Amino acid sequence: MANCLRDVPSRSPAATGVDGMPRVTYLSPSGVAHSVDVRAGDSVMQGAIANGIDGIVAECGGSASCATCHVYVDEAFLPLVGEVSPVEDEMLDFAASERQPNSRLGCQIAVTAGLDGLVVTLPERQV
Ligand code: FES
Repeated sequence: MANCLRDVPSRSPAATGVDGMPRVTYLSPSGVAHSVDVRAGDSVMQGAIANGIDGIVAECGGSASCATCHVYVDEAFLPLVGEVSPVEDEMLDFAASERQPNSRLGCQIAVTAGLDGLVVTLPERQV
């Protein structure tokens, strides 16, 4: 169940969700935060879809071929989310909203315990 906040939560042990599930906060383009528990191993995209987060389309279902799961990763988490693959790098050039240095495809980031407290911002548009 989404927990909607107005303030961006900081990363802390308290960010851990139910039963130790990693918690991910999705910020709307206007800054409204939705913090949800995501099953470890699911992607950032899957976490959004499973929790009814608006702003992720995921037309291709997670095969890195549509760029409609574009997110901006909070700078503090960039070293933790893994490298951008060549396929993802190419696909990000087709994102509907401006690509930025912290742009990633949500379907290519696996949510792990180490990413508990992850914050991503959704772009203005996905298509
Ligand atoms: S869901 Fe299509 S690229 Fe991520």
